[in-house]
Amino acid sequence: MSRKSGSSKRWLSEHERDSYVKAARHRGLRSRASYKLLQIQEKYGLMELGQFVVDLGASPGGFSQIARKQVGTKGRVIAVDLLEMAPLEGVDFIKGNFCEDSTEEKLLNLINGQPVDLVISDMAPNFSGVKEVDQPNSIYLVEMALEFVAKILRPGGSLMIKCFEGSGINDLRRTFRQKFKRFNSFKPNASSNRSREIYLIGRNFIG
Ligand SMILES: C[S@@+](CC[C@H](N)C(=O)[O-])C[C@H]1O[C@@H](n2cnc3c(N)ncnc32)[C@H](O)[C@@H]1O
Repeated sequence: MSRKSGSSKRWLSEHERDSYVKAARHRGLRSRASYKLLQIQEKYGLMELGQFVVDLGASPGGFSQIARKQVGTKGRVIAVDLLEMAPLEGVDFIKGNFCEDSTEEKLLNLINGQPVDLVISDMAPNFSGVKEVDQPNSIYLVEMALEFVAKILRPGGSLMIKCFEGSGINDLRRTFRQKFKRFNSFKPNASSNRSREIYLIGRNFIG
């Protein structure tokens, strides 16, 4: 048996035993990630009825499902991902690489100047297992998201973005503190202890 298939099997068996996976299936949620956003929402109350949310790295749609429910039918959700996403009622989806100009253009067209209340990003690069490659790739995605957010987020709006602890993250924390009046780093219980993932949350965007 190859090492790769061994680790995939281990991942699958852990995934099957995971209580959040079971709960997500039971509740008809698209991914266990939904619980991360629910726990963040419980603590920081980022989403409200009627708001406009943009979800970056949205597939298979766990975050978008929760966002849609929180903003209600008077709100709006736009989701973007490299991968296809099965349609979700009330969610506009753009398939494309967020880092490419053509995808940003499509997004800006769809946003059409409407001020965005919240941007959530769960984007993660394909991990190679080589820290020196993976960490800069993940920081790059966050930096691209921060650049984009500056164009669309309304003053007073919020940003919640997934990062990975390691080189470069303290610079990101500094940037968040400069751009938002309130800043927190938070690791929800639904995020695996073995993962270095952490969510940076900025509220009250200075603009
Ligand atoms: C952890 S998954 C997101 C899970 C999702 N938040 C949910 O709740 O179901 C990360 C996603 O980021 C997407 N992604 C990574 N890099 C991207 C990029 N440059 N542009 C668009 N999507 C990207 C991946 O395709 C993947 O679907």
